[in-house]
Amino acid sequence: MGNVLLTGATGGIGRALAAALDAAGHRVIAVGRDVGRLDVRGIEADLADPASLAPAMEALTAEPTEIHAVVHCAGISPVEAVAEAGPDTWRRTMAVNVASAAELVRLALPALRRSKGHVIFVNASPGLTGVPRWSAFVASKAALRELADSLREEEAGHGVRVTTVYPAATATDLLGEVRAAFGRPYDPQACIRPESLAAMVVWALNAPADSYVCELSVLPG
Ligand SMILES: NC(=O)c1ccc[n+]([C@@H]2O[C@H](COP(=O)([O-])OP(=O)(O)OC[C@H]3O[C@@H](n4cnc5c(N)ncnc54)[C@H](OP(=O)(O)O)[C@@H]3O)[C@@H](O)[C@H]2O)c1
Repeated sequence: MGNVLLTGATGGIGRALAAALDAAGHRVIAVGRDVGRLDVRGIEADLADPASLAPAMEALTAEPTEIHAVVHCAGISPVEAVAEAGPDTWRRTMAVNVASAAELVRLALPALRRSKGHVIFVNASPGLTGVPRWSAFVASKAALRELADSLREEEAGHGVRVTTVYPAATATDLLGEVRAAFGRPYDPQACIRPESLAAMVVWALNAPADSYVCELSVLPG
């Protein structure tokens, strides 16, 4: 139990995560745009600009605040062919989905090392292979996996744990929009409920001292 820095807390999965973390006794600190409207402590930052995180986090990092975990759930998912996607699509997708995750972890690492804390990256099950018209998204998620694997080895000696979660289709507005862009049907009933996914993330955070799950693939039941 302790402070958990959470990105994406205003989104479909992130809202469920914030509620589940709160119910489990964690104190959520939401990091993102417009987090002031949430019922938790918030740090305003646009993750499309990772450099904005350091000044935004100054109040938190200046004092030795205890941070138990960082959960990066923010993400954008543009559906554009390589022939259409310009530099701004690539810059924004890599910034929100992966570079801001690395920067947030970097800023939180002194506290995470003190607490022998946990980093959880919400990846995506399609993020492991090429998908036509989804290159920026899958490239960013592949990079997020590599970030996780590098960080896990770098920080193991400090007792910091790193878990990647690979959810398949989860019932959120974002999935509805992505399916529409691909011209595919969207049936929320056939998807993972955000609350179910959130419960698994909380379970991963509550691992005992002797072991933890480093990768978790989640499929609809
Ligand atoms: N839904 C699925 O089927 C599914 C499956 C696999 C993986 N995932 C992953 O799960 C994560 C959450 O997905 P979701 O379905 O919950 O999406 P969502 O409802 O669209 O939520 C996305 C979150 O990311 C935040 N965000 C986007 N751009 C941002 C920026 N520039 N600065 C700060 N925050 C920003 C959004 O904040 P704002 O409110 O400010 O826009 C929102 O909180 C994503 O990483 C996604 O790739 C989803």
